Amino acid sequence: MDLEAFEARIARGELIEADDFMPDAYRRQCLRLIVTHANSELMGALPEREWIPRAPGLARKLAVLSKVQDEIGHAQMIYRVAEDLAAPFAITRQDMLDDLIDGRAKFHNVFTYPAPSWADVGVIAWLVDGAALETQGALLKTSYAPYARILRRICAEEAVHLKHGEDIVLTLASGTPAQRAMLQDALARWWQPLMHFFGPPGESANGDAFRWRIRVATNEELRQGFLRKYVPKILRLGLVIPDPELRFDNASGNWLYGDPDWDEFWRVVRGGGQRTAERLSLRRLSRDEQGWVLAAMSPENAA
Ligand SMILES: [Fe+2]
Ligand SMILES: [Fe+2]
Repeated sequence: MDLEAFEARIARGELIEADDFMPDAYRRQCLRLIVTHANSELMGALPEREWIPRAPGLARKLAVLSKVQDEIGHAQMIYRVAEDLAAPFAITRQDMLDDLIDGRAKFHNVFTYPAPSWADVGVIAWLVDGAALETQGALLKTSYAPYARILRRICAEEAVHLKHGEDIVLTLASGTPAQRAMLQDALARWWQPLMHFFGPPGESANGDAFRWRIRVATNEELRQGFLRKYVPKILRLGLVIPDPELRFDNASGNWLYGDPDWDEFWRVVRGGGQRTAERLSLRRLSRDEQGWVLAAMSPENAA
C-alpha cells in the first residue's frame, strides 16, 4: 500500500522529501546516483587544481582557484544530501569517502584523464562542464527534492564555469598559431572522453530509475543535447573534431557519430583510467594527513 501511494505521488509530479516514506530500492538508487555525483565533483577538481600555480596571470589564476573551490563546495553539499539518504542504512559520510578512496565506489570516468596543457583547462571548463550541465540541468526535474534544490545552485555555478572555459578557449582560438595548435591538440584528446561522458547508447528508459523520476533523460538524449549545442560552436572556431563520421542527420534531428571505442570506456569505468590511481592516492594522502582533525572533532573527544 505504501509503495502504491508513493508511486501515485511520483505520478502526480510530487517531490519526495528526506523524511517522507520511500521504498528502499528508491533510496538505494538515489543514493548511488548522488554519491557518484559527489565523488565526481571532488575528483573533478583535481585536474584543474594542478593548474592553479601555473595559470597565466593573476585573473586566470583567481578564476581557476575559484572554480576549484566551487567544485569542492558542490561535493560538500551533495555529500550532505547523501548523508540523509544513507542514514537508515547506517552508512556515514566517512564510509562514502573511504569507498571512493579504496576503489569500491565510482567517480566519473571523464576525470581520469591528464591535463597537460593550459588549453586543457579551457576545454575542461567549457566542454566537460558543459556536458555536466547537460546532465545536471536534466536532473533539476528529479523527484528527490533535497537533490533537486541543491542542483539549482550547482547549475548556476556550472554556468559560470562554462563561461570561464569559453573565455579561455576563445582567447586561444584567436591567438597565435601555437596557441591554436595547443587548443586543437587538447580538443582532439578530450573528444573521446566527451563522447564517453554520457555513457553508452541503447539503454531503456523503462526501468525503476525513470518510472520513479530519479533520472529523466537517457544517455543518448543527453549526448544529443550536448552535440546540438556544442558541435556548431566548435566548428565555428575552425577547430577539427576528430571523428570523420560525425554529421548532422536532418531526418532524425540527431548527430551521427563514429564508434568512440566503448571498450576503452569500460576499461576506464572499471578503474583503469590513465590518472585514476594517482588521483585517488592524492585523496588518500589528504585523508591520512587530516585524520587527526576528524579524530579531534569526533563526539568521543568532545569536552
Ligand atoms: Fe561542479
Ligand atoms: Fe563545474
